[in-house]
Amino acid sequence: MPRLAPLHRDARFCPILDVVAQVRQLQARGVELIDLSVGTPNFLPAAHVYAQAQAALADDRGVYGSSRGHAGLVEAYLHYLSGQGLHLHEERHVVTGLGAKHLLHSVFGVILEPGDEVVIPTPCWPTYFDIVQQAGGVVVMVPGTVETDYKISPDALAAALTPRTKAVLLNNPSNPTGAAYDRDALHELAAVLRGSDAWIISDDVYSRFVSPSMDFCHLLQVAPDLVDRVVKIDSVSKLYGMPGWRVGMMAAPVSLAEAVVRLNSNSISSVPEVAAAAAAAALRGDQSFSLAMVEQYRARRALAHGLLASSPRLRCPLPDGAFYLFPDVSACFGLHVPAHRATTAAPVHAANDSPASVDIPHPPRAQSEPIQVRDDLHLTQLLLNQAHVAVVPGRYFGEPRSLRITCSADADTLAEGVARIRSFIDSLI
Ligand SMILES: Cc1ncc(COP(=O)(O)O)c(C=O)c1O
Repeated sequence: MPRLAPLHRDARFCPILDVVAQVRQLQARGVELIDLSVGTPNFLPAAHVYAQAQAALADDRGVYGSSRGHAGLVEAYLHYLSGQGLHLHEERHVVTGLGAKHLLHSVFGVILEPGDEVVIPTPCWPTYFDIVQQAGGVVVMVPGTVETDYKISPDALAAALTPRTKAVLLNNPSNPTGAAYDRDALHELAAVLRGSDAWIISDDVYSRFVSPSMDFCHLLQVAPDLVDRVVKIDSVSKLYGMPGWRVGMMAAPVSLAEAVVRLNSNSISSVPEVAAAAAAAALRGDQSFSLAMVEQYRARRALAHGLLASSPRLRCPLPDGAFYLFPDVSACFGLHVPAHRATTAAPVHAANDSPASVDIPHPPRAQSEPIQVRDDLHLTQLLLNQAHVAVVPGRYFGEPRSLRITCSADADTLAEGVARIRSFIDSLI
């Protein structure tokens, strides 16, 4: 049997998409569960986005598109950047791709050589670990802890930089913690970054999801002198409710942008024109719809936080950005699920009508022995199987003492899901 390349032989399936698959299988079995796992926006794009997609479909010319990106999308992205107070880029700096994930994959593909180090503040989005590894790089984690609201200090960043550092990856605000660095903090981080010549990859997919009270800005606004090294990554997935349209945009120094254009030309050729036209409409069009959603997320996150924060078994900072909570649940490890617990789980419909392949127990039965909660992975499974609420174990993000809760569901669903988590955790003995 011919063999796979070493870097891909042991590559894992995206762990969050794995949780999604488990959730879908349980739902297909008729289990009524509340899904607070995947970071989807839970709203559909505004009407003008669909209208533009339909117009593009009607205009289809039956040709390949540009490997840099549809002209309307490139222009709309530059317009979006100016709206964010960034006037440093022109068309030659911009490239589009099939979502931020694809662009990040491409960027690491064109900058990393075997053994190059990529410094990443953690907890972080799990895909960073995989795409750096798949490009032959080595992740150097800089851990933020619950005590520091999951933020890292400039000194910790400085200590992680070595002559082997090829890139530093910043995600502001962060998935999974929602931690956001304000203008002053960015000044301090920029001072450290000036001391290295590494690329600075700024994953900004949540950059509009910040509390209005915060003095938030982009790294390039406090340090425009770094523009020759900063790669800004954006996406329409979260902000405009378009995760399935698969459109991302980046603005980078010309040499790197050109390398990604060449990669596109030899891989995807171009972003599908209908999706590109829809994304352009989202970036250029009326922003009030998505800004209203951002405000709703903030309110939902505050609601969920209010339900969790008073528990002595949870340490849950209230973040300034994104739409996640990342409570430290380590106080639950070693506690037991009371024997009666499984009988009080959520209702299950038509339990036997669909063949499920995952190893998840069928509708709860009363358990005879109290179960001891081992760790984050185990707690997540218990929450899924017994409380019927899906969250993501912290280890996937590099922090095994925590869980990630996505707060994008409507307020009632979120409140019910969080109440189930709280009641399950409170019931542990
Ligand atoms: C931090 C972060 N970056 C990038 C992405 C991917 O975005 P896209 O849908 O544009 O690929 C996600 C999606 O969850 C994310 O959380």
